[in-house]
Amino acid sequence: MQEKDFDLTRRSFVDRVLMAAAGTGMAAAAPWTAFAATARPDQGDRVRIGFIGTGDRGRTLIQNLAKTRNCAVVSICDTYDVNLAKGRVLAPNARTFTDHRKMLETGGLDAVVIATPLHVHARQTLDAFDAGLHVWCEKAMARTIDDCSAMVAKSRSTNKVLQIGHQRMFHPTYLNALKRTKAGEIGTVTQIRASWHRQNSWRRAVPSGVPDRQINWRLYRDSSAGLMTELATHQLQIGDWFFDAAPQRVMGSGSICFWKDGREVYDHVALIYEYAGGRKLVYTSLLNNARYGCEEQIMGSKGTIEPELGRIYQELPPRVATLERMKKDIVKGKKRAVPIGGATWFPELPITTPGESLGWSDYDETMLQFEGFGEAVRAGKPLPGLLQQAYQASVASLLGEQAMDQGKALDWPTGLISFS
Ligand SMILES: NC(=O)c1ccc[n+]([C@@H]2O[C@H](COP(=O)([O-])OP(=O)(O)OC[C@H]3O[C@@H](n4cnc5c(N)ncnc54)[C@H](O)[C@@H]3O)[C@@H](O)[C@H]2O)c1
Repeated sequence: MQEKDFDLTRRSFVDRVLMAAAGTGMAAAAPWTAFAATARPDQGDRVRIGFIGTGDRGRTLIQNLAKTRNCAVVSICDTYDVNLAKGRVLAPNARTFTDHRKMLETGGLDAVVIATPLHVHARQTLDAFDAGLHVWCEKAMARTIDDCSAMVAKSRSTNKVLQIGHQRMFHPTYLNALKRTKAGEIGTVTQIRASWHRQNSWRRAVPSGVPDRQINWRLYRDSSAGLMTELATHQLQIGDWFFDAAPQRVMGSGSICFWKDGREVYDHVALIYEYAGGRKLVYTSLLNNARYGCEEQIMGSKGTIEPELGRIYQELPPRVATLERMKKDIVKGKKRAVPIGGATWFPELPITTPGESLGWSDYDETMLQFEGFGEAVRAGKPLPGLLQQAYQASVASLLGEQAMDQGKALDWPTGLISFS
């Protein structure tokens, strides 16, 4: 498939790309695309949304949501007056609240968007279901696996939509990457190497009189599993998606080895998630080197896909006999002679072919997931497949934390909610 076949312009995405994806073997891998492809968002009756949490992410989401054709922000809520005031600037006509229960009681809503610290997601989700509302909640789902399960169970028992913020599932480049993987273009995928490496402490400045734990909730165990629930959860979802499975086992090592500033969560994690058939997702995340940034390297027997960069690479054609090959490689500069008492071998260089673009254009996948959510709320049923992906990713991130804490390999838990 050529790039020109995959129209990535923002507005045509729902109307054309999803339609194409839904019909070409992607239905099983991304079933929500089929639903979105049939959606008709511009009907005039906007879904009324109440925002809980107008911090950094909440305010970004208000702006994403404002671009949708089917949702409107009608209420906002935050316990921190500074952030509530910033939210009001973006949603000047919205009613404001400092207690989410008061906002739920006041009514006039179809759904809530939750963008608060991890440890309050579950309570607020359950409260919103009790108030008869649908819920869109940021990833990761909750601080414990039990709370993740309770959120799914309650969405089922109340018959309300629960959608979690994994925007890459609506990302045209990722959908194209998945489509080309499913079409066999990179052969059999046996390893995914994923990393999220940053060069910053994650510590925020704390205004005087405000508790550090309120502002820096990401750094403390009560409220966060750190890199696992903040960053890894996105990439663990990608792993499950491309392997078309949940992991079977995880082992890992975590440490606080650079930012020794009183934080409780690891600043450096390395894990292996094992999947059926010996496949592996090798994961690293750290906060003191950004050279390799954020990427998933999806490695198959015929090629590699790197969706964050939006590129696909083919493996080189079969090589000629060893000595002949070595001579040619040295001439071509793929290997070098190393003068240690005479010329010798030099380690194999990585494949440096430029690869091909998977397509990159002007779109907003977070806006697209809200349009999908709006359609799900109107229909009163979830976009198929999304919640299972989110649940597995949250469980995997929390299980990874436990494996690192306990220093041993942990099997995928029994007793989880079934989606079959
Ligand atoms: N999907 C993504 O790419 C992405 C990116 C960034 C953050 N996030 C997620 O968004 C969520 C929020 O992250 P953030 O960076 O915006 O944090 P933040 O600290 O900037 O904002 C959280 C806000 O929630 C408010 N809050 C806390 N308890 C509350 C309560 N009980 N009721 C109402 N408001 C309350 C805080 O006052 C704060 O304003 C997290 O779950 C995070 O993982 C997702």
